[in-house]
Amino acid sequence: MSYLRKFHARYFKPSSGRKRSSSRDNKSIMVAGGAGFLGSHLCERLLKAGHQVYCVDDFSTGLERNISPLLGFDGFDVIAQDIAEPIDVDVDVDEIYHLARPASPPHYQADPIRAMQTYVTGSLNLLELAARRGARILQVSAADTHDDSQLHARTEGDWSDAAFLGRHSSYEEGKRCAEALFSDFHRLYEVDVRLVRIFNAYGPRMRADESRIVSNFVLKALRGKDITIYGDASKTRSFSFADDLIDGFARIMASPASLPVPIDLCNPMEFSIGDVAEQVIELTGARSNLILRPQATDTPRQQRPDISLAMQEFGWRPKMDLSGGLLQTIGYFDRLLAGSKRVVPEPA
Ligand SMILES: NC(=O)c1ccc[n+]([C@@H]2O[C@H](COP(=O)([O-])OP(=O)(O)OC[C@H]3O[C@@H](n4cnc5c(N)ncnc54)[C@H](O)[C@@H]3O)[C@@H](O)[C@H]2O)c1
Repeated sequence: MSYLRKFHARYFKPSSGRKRSSSRDNKSIMVAGGAGFLGSHLCERLLKAGHQVYCVDDFSTGLERNISPLLGFDGFDVIAQDIAEPIDVDVDVDEIYHLARPASPPHYQADPIRAMQTYVTGSLNLLELAARRGARILQVSAADTHDDSQLHARTEGDWSDAAFLGRHSSYEEGKRCAEALFSDFHRLYEVDVRLVRIFNAYGPRMRADESRIVSNFVLKALRGKDITIYGDASKTRSFSFADDLIDGFARIMASPASLPVPIDLCNPMEFSIGDVAEQVIELTGARSNLILRPQATDTPRQQRPDISLAMQEFGWRPKMDLSGGLLQTIGYFDRLLAGSKRVVPEPA
């Protein structure tokens, strides 16, 4: 029996598959990955707006301390669940935000097969839940899902920068596959899907052990250590402050127009990696030196986010500039280091 027929037989009983109004003020919203860096900011924002929030998380990279301040809200429920396992929660949901995935290389490379199960089977499970409950569903994907704009003609057997065989492949291919599933569920079952791609998120609650540019530089500076830049310090990146992204997710979810194509969200200002390091040193008042080291694998020289769709269709604009966002991130890590020096792991 085809997937389509099995799915209809399992889920589309006469009483199910209803569309719930998306215009109610107080909605029932599931945030998969709600204990993570971005997910916890999203839960907080939704709770403050008066919604019922179900935070679904397996705590593989999420942290209890991210959501413990939210436990005081009446409308907050935490559901410990691996989304790659069948999701059989008995709750009605109007909207589902899907942020449940290992997001950084040390985490997905530690177990790429498990990561792929989360990206693909986990997305499928959430999409099936959305179809059963008539819920709108938004998935957060990554800029890495874009083709490398500097791809060049290559000879047969040269797969050096092809995503599907490299150490990043479980992430990049898994996310692309998840986007394809979202698009198919929209086409076949009219599920109201939204796809978002983000670039280099940063802000309070980002993990200390992920080797991300901002957290790595800030922690080195706060610990009074030198900052090492691998590869060319003049290559550029664009950064997205967490609050700006959350605002973008909420706007795209709230819009009546279903737009089943990926929408990029990022502050399009480009900064060289060296410039970011210097700003961190200046804002922390550290005496760290910059150390340049060769990089083992190649990474793009430049990222060029184009946020025209987000601006034109959803009226979204990033508000936070890099120095303001860095200051908030520095404050967060400073408090964390002051509170519990022993439990803050060193970035690689
Ligand atoms: N942080 C970034 O710079 C960035 C960039 C691009 C895309 N993204 C995407 O944004 C989303 C959130 O990223 P983040 O930085 O907040 O990451 P994070 O690791 O802090 O959050 C991910 C959350 O998902 C949970 N999770 C992972 N696998 C799960 C599973 N099988 N079942 C249930 N929960 C599971 C984790 O425990 C964690 O709480 C991810 O989808 C990520 O790929 C993030």
